[in-house]
This record gives sequence, structure tokens and C-alpha cells, in this order.
Amino acid sequence: MKFLVTGGAGFIGGNFVHYMVNKYPEDMIVNLDKLTYAGNLETCKPVEDKPNYKFVKGDIADREFIFDLFEKEHFDVVVNFAAESHVDRSIEDPEIFVKTNVMGTTTLLDACVKYGIKRYHQVSTDEVYGDLPLDRPDLFFTEETPLHTSSPYSSAKASADLFVLAYHRTYGLPVTISRCSNNYGPYHFPEKLIPLIISRALNDETIPVYGTGENVRDWLHVYDHCTAIDLIVRNGREGEVYNVGGHNERTNLQVVKTVLKALNKPESLITFVEDRKGHDRRYAIDPTKLETELGWQPKYTFDTGIPMTIQWYLDNKEWWENIISGEYQNYFEKMYVEKGRAEK
Ligand SMILES: NC(=O)c1ccc[n+]([C@@H]2O[C@H](COP(=O)([O-])OP(=O)(O)OC[C@H]3O[C@@H](n4cnc5c(N)ncnc54)[C@H](O)[C@@H]3O)[C@@H](O)[C@H]2O)c1
Repeated sequence: MKFLVTGGAGFIGGNFVHYMVNKYPEDMIVNLDKLTYAGNLETCKPVEDKPNYKFVKGDIADREFIFDLFEKEHFDVVVNFAAESHVDRSIEDPEIFVKTNVMGTTTLLDACVKYGIKRYHQVSTDEVYGDLPLDRPDLFFTEETPLHTSSPYSSAKASADLFVLAYHRTYGLPVTISRCSNNYGPYHFPEKLIPLIISRALNDETIPVYGTGENVRDWLHVYDHCTAIDLIVRNGREGEVYNVGGHNERTNLQVVKTVLKALNKPESLITFVEDRKGHDRRYAIDPTKLETELGWQPKYTFDTGIPMTIQWYLDNKEWWENIISGEYQNYFEKMYVEKGRAEK
């Protein structure tokens, strides 16, 4: 089968590309990425010479480019990770979130309808459900929880989800959606909480924590998100939404303290800063549907996944130091333009 994976130079898309290229040598994985500030082709280095992998630079919201690509490539499956993904950036500048997350999605959907794709999978987020109160630990998001977004980021993601479901109902497009909790693991851009804590703590810099740090997030190792998407794409029922999460709820402060302890760094590095506008209080996923219908089980708990992740950042300092220095943005230029590596 031929897969189009969009956003494969980002954190989760990159991990998914590694997973698919290695697990299914008989499948072809085409990675399409615009290489925004969040796209880092160095993430794809370990697979870039594999015969079942190829990279294409482009924008999912560029209609002419997308239709040309579909015309040429004859994809069987599309998995859409490409998105503007940072909540703080969406508060500063919502428009690009509409362009990429909503219009990029509808452009892909239109191409899928025209070229008769076998499966379109939308990688969504638990943030579309809004948040839960801190004093009700008995409440969880299910697939029936109403969409109730808080930020421009989650509003754009929810909007895209509605279009995906509408294309199923209206045009009979075979779609699935996954809504996952917060991910952590290798190749995570250092503006996000866990790699931010690691990179700053290693340099003895202060760790900014919003408000009082009591907001709760449900953490899943990115590998487990990849196995869930793989299962949903192959065995999930068309037109269905599947929640993905592993019941690993932690307050932001607990996460910071866990990482500092593992790195042998003092809690005095923690600095409380003004809370994020509209900050969601608690996310908590009920993954029962995915577990019972498709037999998915996560491999890692927070306690097993975090030490492994910290070790990865210690072993791969160059990867994240290149991001902090800005060097990563030269990789495409160096490898694909100067050295003439074919985008294929
Ligand atoms: N990070 C999480 O915890 C989490 C949890 C649940 C769902 N998600 C969803 O998973 C997906 C991936 O998230 P991530 O954390 O890996 O994001 P990321 O920001 O690390 O990566 C996004 C990638 O998309 C690319 N991109 C952006 N705009 C594009 C465009 N117009 N055309 C083509 N490529 C474009 C970027 O260059 C980047 O490589 C997103 O859709 C996000 O909403 C993320």
C-alpha cells in the first residue's frame, strides 16, 4: 500500500514515519511536510535512505500542489498529522491555524474524494473536548463527549474533525479520526513541556510553570500513539472516532518535579509564571472503545516511558541543540538542495 503521511517531519508524524517504514517494508511511505519552524528533517535521518520512504516538501493547503501530487502518486491511504500544534502560538496568531488545520484538511479531503482513496485518517486531539473540572476525577472524555473547545488551536482541530465526518456522511469518504492525549517521547520540539524541562534543566536554566502548576494532563508515549493509529487505519470502522490514552494523569508540577529529580536538578529551578489565557484545567481520556473494539493496549506507563525519554534526550543532545541554535533549518537546504538528494 502507498501511504501519504503529512507532517512527518514533526514530532508525532516523525515517530509514525519511523514506525511505518521499519514495520512495513512492503508499504511505501511518502512524507509530505511544509517544514515550518516545527518541521525538522533531521528527525527523518534514520529512515531517509530506506527504499520504501520518500520526502516531499509542500503545503497541505496548497490545492494545486496537492491535486498534482495525488494525480502522480496514487495513494491508498492518507494519514494527516500536519498542523500548527502549539496552543500559545494560536493565542498570538490564530489565522495560520485556520489555514493549515482547517483548510489544509479540506484540501486533502477534496483530493481524497477525487482520487478515490481507501482510507483517510485524521490525527486529532483530546483538546477538542475542552476541559474537565479538577475536583471530578471520576469524569473522562469519551467519544460521545460534546466538542467544547477553549483555544484557537483546539477550535481549528475540532472544526477539521467536523469536516472529516461530513465528508464521510456526504461523499461516503472512508474516514477515521483518533483523538489522543498529550504525547511525549523522542523528537519532541523543545518548546513543548517535557523537552523544554529537560533542555533547560541541563543548562541550569529556570523552568517556567503556568499559574500554580495544578493543571492536569494525560500523558501517552508517542510509540503507543503510533500503534493506535496503525490499528485504527487498518481495522477501525469507517466514520468512527477513537480516543487514545493510557490513564497517565499528572499535574504539570508533578511532571516538572519528576523530570528534575531524574536529572538530579533542584526544584529551585521552577519559576511560576502568569497563567495561559483560557488555560484548560484537566484532560483525561477514556480509551475503552479502542481497547475493546481493536484490542489496543499501551506498551508504556508514564513511569516506564519517562526515564527512557530522558535518556533519549541525553543521548541525542545534538538533535535538540540544533533546534535551539536554529541550525536544523539548514538541513533541507544542505541535503536536498546543495547535495542534490532527490525529493523523489
Ligand atoms: N503533541 C501532542 O501531544 C498531540 C496530541 C494529540 C494530537 N496531536 C496532533 O498530532 C499532530 C502532530 O502533532 P505534533 O505535536 O507532532 O506537531 P508538530 O508541530 O511537532 O509537527 C507538525 C508538522 O506539520 C508540519 N506542517 C505544518 N503546517 C503544514 C502545512 N501547511 N503543510 C504541510 N506540513 C505542515 C510542520 O512542518 C511539522 O513538521 C497534530 O495534528 C496535532 O494536533 C498532537
